[in-house]
Amino acid sequence: MSALSDLLSEQTDLGSDAAAHLQQLVGDWQILADLAFADLLLWVRTRDGELLCVGHVRPTTAPTSHPLHEVGRRVAAGELSWLDRALDAGGMIRDRDPEWGNGIPIRPEAIAVRHGGKSVAVMGRDTNLDSPRTPSELELAYLDAAAELFYMVTEGSFPAVVEGSSDSLGPRVGDGFARLDTGGVVRYASPNGLSAFRRMGLTADLVGRDLADVGRDLIDTADGGDRSAVEPGDISALRLALAAAVPHTGELAAGSVTVAYQIIPLSRRASSHGCVVLLRDMTDLRHRDLALQSKDVSIREIHHRVKNNLQTVAALLRLQARRMHHPAARAALADSVQRVSSIALVHETLAASRDGAADLDGILDSLIPMISDVSAARPGVAIRRKGHLGELSAELATPLVMVLTELLHNAVEHGYSDRDRGQVLITAERTIGTLTVRISDDGRGLPQGFSLEASDSLGLQIVRTLVESEMRGSIRLVRRRVDPGLASHPESAGTEAVLTVPLPR
Ligand SMILES: Nc1ncnc2c1ncn2[C@@H]1O[C@H](COP(=O)(O)OP(=O)(O)OP(=O)(O)O)[C@@H](O)[C@H]1O
Ligand SMILES: [Mg+2]
Repeated sequence: MSALSDLLSEQTDLGSDAAAHLQQLVGDWQILADLAFADLLLWVRTRDGELLCVGHVRPTTAPTSHPLHEVGRRVAAGELSWLDRALDAGGMIRDRDPEWGNGIPIRPEAIAVRHGGKSVAVMGRDTNLDSPRTPSELELAYLDAAAELFYMVTEGSFPAVVEGSSDSLGPRVGDGFARLDTGGVVRYASPNGLSAFRRMGLTADLVGRDLADVGRDLIDTADGGDRSAVEPGDISALRLALAAAVPHTGELAAGSVTVAYQIIPLSRRASSHGCVVLLRDMTDLRHRDLALQSKDVSIREIHHRVKNNLQTVAALLRLQARRMHHPAARAALADSVQRVSSIALVHETLAASRDGAADLDGILDSLIPMISDVSAARPGVAIRRKGHLGELSAELATPLVMVLTELLHNAVEHGYSDRDRGQVLITAERTIGTLTVRISDDGRGLPQGFSLEASDSLGLQIVRTLVESEMRGSIRLVRRRVDPGLASHPESAGTEAVLTVPLPR
């Protein structure tokens, strides 16, 4: 349930049909505010007879007359008498003297909202008179269309019921406006509306011409000049909607230019008064979409190739390890294979990701068997994950996975060097600003006098460098608190590595 329907069911006796109509009205009323150059306030009568403001929209074409949001305001019966009168009579109240609100001179008008033959609410139309406007052709065309639409509101025919709610990303009045007569001929086009057609290749004027014909000519010209025998589907849809005077949204594409349109039919007492057409040049938007899509595809392709290359490097190192006779050299190469493979895992995940974010839980679940493989000498040591690391950007994911690889490897390799049974637990805790990962083992514990800062072996050096410089986080290695329920060897506490990484908001 929306805030509006909550308010209506709490405060009024309006039925669900009327509530749905008001919901749709506030979904579609930006065009009314823009065409009228006025703030619109939707008022309903509460059970105790007051008027309650349940909706407010400001014009994008003129200064507001209500700098404060008015929703929730209550007024006693008769205080804004024109609203009460319009609501009771089910009509419109116009041409009132200015009122002063918040130091702004306002011309208030009232339009009853009718649904199912009854007046269910009243719309306040408040025009800011502070900056007087000299009526231009555009302004007169807007106000005329507004008058038609307000009439339809009192008649109950606006907003029309359409399948699927209106598209809030559709064109706005300021993007391009045209007024058509009942025959689909353009009677007025705003400068932006005309520009949209100019970009599609129109050289002549738009006024006086059949909009569907103009569209067809532009498409034919862009296609090479021959008038195709079959009318393009986009044009027949437009023509049909204009002829039937039904609400319709669609797109016209001529050459590389795409214009989106929305048809809003006008009518009085069921007879057509032509329609308003809103137009928006979508070309730049479409190009940007396409550019982003192809960029996204290339990035994923690059991740895929990086992964392949890293796997090749790992394979080469593995081959080389087999030729080594010295056990220490073999072990060192095996460590490198694991480091390289863990980075490859990150790229593999990124190659499959749509938004450039890596799913760390998935990576970790692939990493765990890899670590266990290498430490095959200790098959009795199980690694488990608890909690979620979630998704991270590529910049954070790669160092984090490398760090986790080192820490897990150490836990298995050093923690259980004198035993063959145990449990390594990875616990993740993520809040808005931080990710904390603990890797705890129930192994033999850190050697006497161990200090992370003093340790100069490669593994922990890598860990410290990555944590501090790439992730701006912190790492601690501590003696693990004894959890007798978990410990396979309750007599020894084991080790806990605590990694804290700040996350970008
Ligand atoms: N979970 C652990 N349990 C017990 N000892 C540990 C643990 N983690 C680290 N250590 C100790 O810290 C030392 C340093 O670890 P580090 O990873 O830096 O080097 P390494 O594992 O010995 O060699 P490599 O450079 O191949 O990683 C280890 O040799 C070990 O003594
Ligand atoms: Mg190590």
